[in-house]
Amino acid sequence: MMHDEVTVWAPASLSNLGPGFDCLGVAITDFGDHIQARRQERSALTWEWDPQSSWSAPVRSEDNTAFVAARSMLERLGSNAGVHLLIRKTGRAGSGLGSSAASAVGAAFAVAALHGKESETDVIREAALDGEQTTSGARHGDNVLPSLHGGFVLAQSDRPEHTRRVDCPVPLHLAVVIPAIDVLTREARELLPEHVTLAAAVRHASLLGLMIHAIRSGNIEELGALVMSDELIEPRRAALVVPYESIRSAARKSGALGVALSGSGPALFAVCPTLSSGVDVAAAMRAACADHGVDCLAKATSVDPIGVRIAEATPFTR
Ligand code: HSE
Repeated sequence: MMHDEVTVWAPASLSNLGPGFDCLGVAITDFGDHIQARRQERSALTWEWDPQSSWSAPVRSEDNTAFVAARSMLERLGSNAGVHLLIRKTGRAGSGLGSSAASAVGAAFAVAALHGKESETDVIREAALDGEQTTSGARHGDNVLPSLHGGFVLAQSDRPEHTRRVDCPVPLHLAVVIPAIDVLTREARELLPEHVTLAAAVRHASLLGLMIHAIRSGNIEELGALVMSDELIEPRRAALVVPYESIRSAARKSGALGVALSGSGPALFAVCPTLSSGVDVAAAMRAACADHGVDCLAKATSVDPIGVRIAEATPFTR
């Protein structure tokens, strides 16, 4: 069904999850983007921040993943409809929680829904990847795909259309902390080695295989241990997040089974054994940031199994 106006919710996501660099991510609850797409008379794509958005920094349209993804979606649909986007974020951009990917997925999906094409997942994915590329410089899908499909998603790093959901049979309790530190994904990628030894690559591949098995079998203890197993990427980025060691140690002391950077940071996430331990671990991570004089947002969260969806819609009337 075509629509005059659609508001969608696109969840944020954790990516990398230790050894899943550029290929594994999981959608989470509590963080994400509300994106409203509204038809307008003027034949143009325009956008503004919703006054309730928790982040509303000035951004050029060309650097706004929502704008770029929406424009790509219109082009891919061959549509010359005028569309206005209203963007409300619940986190900030550059957090490591796939906020730019949530914007891209939300905008592409909302524009598709205006045209009654919200089930065209392949086209939405490609438009969202066009948007995501504007901030990270790469078409990797480790945040876009969980935001689109929900749950854990594994994808080939250089071919995000080759993707699989990895279902976990038990509820996963998580805690997330976003220290108020700027980490640019592009810069965090520049710290990474261009070459690794065969032994290191084989070890990394085997850890990722074990991680997928832990998710599928619901072995949360093993999952917690594995998110801390990456030796290729995370150790090189840790210095970008000043309270990194303190956050990890505080989370572990309060019961977390494992702690790691989400994406390129500065956010870290913890795998927790129970719902209440997620709350305790979030408090411990908050206190660790405070000890370093770093503001943060810390929260218990869980897996969003659905991915992007329509929250409100007005049918097409003209
Ligand atoms: N996999 C990406 C990285 C996620 O770690 O650089 C950030 O977009």
